[in-house]
Amino acid sequence: VTTGSIRSVRIVGTGLVGTSLGLALRAAGVDSQLLDSDPDRLSTAVGRGAGRAVTQGDPPPDVVVVCVPPSLTADLVDEQLRAHPGAIVMDVASVKGPIVADLLSRVGVEDLGRFVPSHPMSGREVSGPEGALADLFRDRVWVLTPTEHTAAMSVETAEELLGLVGAVSRTVSPAQHDDAVAVVSHVPQLVSSALAAALADTSDQALDLAGPGLRDTTRIAGSDAGLWVDVVRANAPAVRQGLAAVRANLDRLEEVLATGDDPGPAVRDLLVRGAAGRSRIPGRHGGDDPQYAGVVVQLLDAPGQLAGLFAAVGMADVNVLDVRMEHALGRPTGLIELLVSADQSLALGTALRDAGFDVRS
Ligand SMILES: NC(=O)c1ccc[n+]([C@@H]2O[C@H](COP(=O)([O-])OP(=O)(O)OC[C@H]3O[C@@H](n4cnc5c(N)ncnc54)[C@H](O)[C@@H]3O)[C@@H](O)[C@H]2O)c1
Repeated sequence: VTTGSIRSVRIVGTGLVGTSLGLALRAAGVDSQLLDSDPDRLSTAVGRGAGRAVTQGDPPPDVVVVCVPPSLTADLVDEQLRAHPGAIVMDVASVKGPIVADLLSRVGVEDLGRFVPSHPMSGREVSGPEGALADLFRDRVWVLTPTEHTAAMSVETAEELLGLVGAVSRTVSPAQHDDAVAVVSHVPQLVSSALAAALADTSDQALDLAGPGLRDTTRIAGSDAGLWVDVVRANAPAVRQGLAAVRANLDRLEEVLATGDDPGPAVRDLLVRGAAGRSRIPGRHGGDDPQYAGVVVQLLDAPGQLAGLFAAVGMADVNVLDVRMEHALGRPTGLIELLVSADQSLALGTALRDAGFDVRS
């Protein structure tokens, strides 16, 4: 296989990731051959336009992408490397170290040259082909973790596949990947779930007071448990270390609260360190960027309200950098926060007021 040569891709496992990949490859004009042990999932993926079911007479694929749960990944990569001696074989499992170590111990060096372990850093809280999106990988990082045996040409082909689906490639070692995802993905999932689990005994009256803060911090608590069992099992040491770091922060505060002393310094310390950590997350608005400012507008929950607002923003010639929506409790109104460049926020507020909008800040 040479660069520019991906004509057909075989996808093993047509769940969320496999079906999304099929949709993206079909949109790029690539032949997508689908396989799943569950006939219902396979037919759903085919019905959604992610490709066609594998048949006996299919030409050999250029690339095979194994998209099954982490605990099954090594077996299927091994099987696919044997079944398709001319193909690059990739996997997409969320943990890399144990899968790579398992395959290094049982696959011959020659076949390992065609194995490119990988992990697309784009997921959803839902699983299965129903939740698949054609643009799941677009502009998102897709990590490649080649082993010392992976051939350079295999990495090039994997990068070509990433380019076809619009993903941005990053290359790190399997161990670096697992340490990193424990901190940026696995621990946040568990902390969000732990926070939401603590709501089980909370009264309905108390939950009625919930605002966007609780919704934001528990958004990923609805994730599929099955996948996470596999992920945490496979990345246990790094996850444990990450949890210990979070717990140390909470323990320190709880100890101060237990003494009855003024908790002010400890609270301030945690909030300041938290803000510093958040500002290190790359991407727009990850930090408390003073260049941006919010303009809050109250709208009725009715058709056409948002369209009218955005039309007025367009008339004011202001570029909206981000939008947040919050529903007013028990009232048919919503608060829309438009995040704009700070030097345009005053002018936008005035323009929207002049256009008859209820501007709150
Ligand atoms: N869900 C995410 O957000 C996400 C993000 C990045 C990577 N991943 C990784 O992608 C992989 C798939 O995750 P998913 O969310 O798509 O899971 P999923 O449960 O939606 O899909 C997995 C699919 O694999 C199929 N399968 C199981 N055994 C099989 C076999 N022997 N042969 C063929 N098919 C088989 C299942 O029937 C199912 O359709 C996992 O390794 C996961 O770690 C998931």
